[in-house]
Amino acid sequence: MHFLLEVRSETMTATTQSTNGHDRSALIPLLQQVQVEMGYVPKEAITEISKELRVSTSDIFGVLTFYAQFRLKPVGKHMVKICRGTACHVRGAPLIIDAVDDELGLTDGGDTTEDGEFTVEKVACFGACSLAPVMIVDEETKGNITPDQARRMIKKIVKEIAKKAEVANG
Ligand code: FES
Repeated sequence: MHFLLEVRSETMTATTQSTNGHDRSALIPLLQQVQVEMGYVPKEAITEISKELRVSTSDIFGVLTFYAQFRLKPVGKHMVKICRGTACHVRGAPLIIDAVDDELGLTDGGDTTEDGEFTVEKVACFGACSLAPVMIVDEETKGNITPDQARRMIKKIVKEIAKKAEVANG
């Protein structure tokens, strides 16, 4: 698969030409671009970047695991972001996180449901501390949220998913 080369050929060509292919300065921006476009950094992309920039795959994995921003697995269709910043923490964010993880069955420390429908991300601060605790589900932001309300937001989407599946299956 050469999606990465197709998508980023100009950037990579410019980088490799100007540096004989040993410039690591392009590595992080390139990984960021892949993640923006694909939602995560797949193995195929790592292999291609490794060849193009002549950086070992283990070095690339080192960068990917050092920076929390990078994902190595696909994200779910629905993003649930829960703030765990100080203001939200003191106003109950841990209870919101527990309720959502429990509702989605994410009890093993994973952040994405097995069916690939939901990914839960804990965020440092949304910049809306006066609304703490805050949770964002897809495009919907909810402030002063309670664990029950958080569960209801998730349940609503689960119901919609089930409805769509029903329609699709006739
Ligand atoms: S600490 Fe949660 S929005 Fe700022």
